[in-house]
Amino acid sequence: MNERTLLLAVPPAWAPLWTVPFAELAPQLQIFVESKDTYATDAIDYVLSFRPAPGLLQRLPNLRVAFSLGAGVDGFLSDPQYPKHVPLVRFVGNSLADEMAEFCVLHVLMHYRMQRFFDRAQSEHKWRQALLPKRASDIAIGILGLGEIGAVVAERLKPFGFRLAGWSRTRKAVEAVESFASEDELPAFLARSDVLICLLPLTDATTGVLNAKLFAQLPKDAFVINVARGGHLVDADLIAALDSGHLSGAVLDVFHHEPLPEDHPFWSHPRITVTPHIAAITDPRAAVEYVVKGIVRFERGEMLENVVDLSRGY
Ligand code: NAP
Ligand code: GLV
Repeated sequence: MNERTLLLAVPPAWAPLWTVPFAELAPQLQIFVESKDTYATDAIDYVLSFRPAPGLLQRLPNLRVAFSLGAGVDGFLSDPQYPKHVPLVRFVGNSLADEMAEFCVLHVLMHYRMQRFFDRAQSEHKWRQALLPKRASDIAIGILGLGEIGAVVAERLKPFGFRLAGWSRTRKAVEAVESFASEDELPAFLARSDVLICLLPLTDATTGVLNAKLFAQLPKDAFVINVARGGHLVDADLIAALDSGHLSGAVLDVFHHEPLPEDHPFWSHPRITVTPHIAAITDPRAAVEYVVKGIVRFERGEMLENVVDLSRGY
C-alpha cells in the first residue's frame, strides 16, 4: 500500500473517529479530510464516506475504489455524477447486523408485549390486567429485504416463536423463515404480516414502496417498522393508515430529511415512535479494518468483496 491516499469525506469534526484507527492500522496510507485538508484531486486513490457531496467523486480522476461507511449506498448513488467506472464497496459486518437485530427485537417485543399500552396505563395509575398480549406463535412477522441484515434479524427473532417470513428479489433458504420472492408474491407476503420490518435498499424499484396500496394489503392492526431509508415511505400514507385505524403503530428510524424537521407530524403522532437513525451505526474501527483489508486485497489484484451492482443500485 505504498504512497496511497484516501479521502475521508465525513463531517470534519467527526474525522478523528476514523483517522486515529487509520494511523494505527495503516500508517503508510495518507489520509486527507474533505473540507479540512488541502489535497490534489488527481492524487486521491480511495474514498471513504457515507454521503459524499454530489460531484465530489467525479472530480477525482484517479479514484480507484469508493468505500461506503454504510450498508446502504443511496448516499453515493443519488449523485447523478457518480463515476460509473469506480467500484463501490458497501459495508458488511457482524456488528452492524447485530445492532439492527437488537433494535428490531426490542421494538417487536415492545409491540407484542403491549409495553406502550402499559406505560399509558401507569401514567393514569390504572391496573389493566384484562387485556393480555397475544402468543408469539400467533404473530407473523414479515421482513421486506431478506439480505445480509434481514437474515440476522430473522435469526434473532426465531427463539421467541414468531412466525417468520422474508421478501426478496430472489428466493432464499433460511431455516424456519418462509421465503417470498418477486412482485408476484408480495401480496401473499403482506397479507400474512402482522408486523412488517422494512430492510430494503433504497433503489429506483423500492422508492415509495411503503405506501397506501401496500398498507391496505396488510392485516388490520398491523405494525410497521422502517429501519431502511426514509425514501421507502410515503409519509402522508402512513399517517392516513394509522389515523383510519388500519395500522396500529409504527417505529421509524429513517426519514426523507434527516434530522427530521422539528415541525414534522411524526414527532407528535401518538402511534409513531421516532428514533434518530441509530438502529445500526457502523463502528468506526470496524469500518477502518474493513477498508484496510479491502485496499490490501485490491492492491494484490484480488477480487473486492461486497461490490455494489450499479445497475441494480445495491
Ligand atoms: P442487502 O444485503 O443488499 O439486502 C437487501 C435485500 O433486499 C436483499 O434480500 C434483496 O433481494 C432485497 N431487495 C432489493 N431490491 C428488491 C426488490 N426490488 N424487490 C424485492 N427485494 C429486493 O442489504 P443489507 O446489508 O441487508 O441492508 C439493507 C438496508 O438496511 C440498507 O440498504 C440500508 O438502507 C438499511 N440500513 C439501515 C440502518 C439504520 O441504522 N437504520 C443500518 C444499516 C442498514 P436479493 O437478495 O434477492 O437481491
Ligand atoms: C446505515 O444507515 C447504513 O446504511 O449502514
